Amino acid sequence: MSYNLLTISGSLRKNSTNSGLIRAFIEVAGDSVAFTEADIHDLPIFNEDLEVSGNPEKVVTLKQQIQEADGVLIATPEYNRGTSGALKNALDWSTRPTKENPWEGKPVYIVGASSGTLGTVNAQYDLKRSMLYLKARVLGQPEMYVTFNKTKFNESGDLTDADTKTFIQKALDAFKAHIDQTR
Ligand code: FNR
Repeated sequence: MSYNLLTISGSLRKNSTNSGLIRAFIEVAGDSVAFTEADIHDLPIFNEDLEVSGNPEKVVTLKQQIQEADGVLIATPEYNRGTSGALKNALDWSTRPTKENPWEGKPVYIVGASSGTLGTVNAQYDLKRSMLYLKARVLGQPEMYVTFNKTKFNESGDLTDADTKTFIQKALDAFKAHIDQTR
């Protein structure tokens, strides 16, 4: 079976460990999965007044990518015990207009890496609350909270930790099985 996954990193930072975590999924997955990377850079801050001129081109693309994907893999950083403003902003744009919700029924897997002891648990639950409301099908387990990211990624944001790579294989298998249930 082949899978077409959309990836979204909630960190815009060049050497982001969350972007690195997504790269590690791509490396581990091999040929059975085709990945498309969502671009959430430079989206305007959502404001309902902007909607009179329709969605920005990048939002149109993002919504289409979500719609076409078999599943969406989201890696969120944790900022002040919540998800990033960039990711929440992209999520809000993607739900407009409300009658066109690309998340309904969509298999979603949320992971994350942070420098602290909780490994983005708060940020992930922040997102899961929105995803529940949007009727996405969020994979509950295995939960993936990558703690102390500075010790597991190098300065370029590449994952170097063998145990985390092993865990990614297990997580990917679970996400594939989760997607299979919706086919
Ligand atoms: C952080 N960081 C952080 N870490 C954490 O575990 N819990 C938190 O609440 C916060 N809060 C927070 C706020 C802000 C504004 C910043 C910039 C950072 C640290 C964060 O986990 C660390 O910078 C990660 O490396 C960010 O992810 P990327 O950019 O490497 O993907």
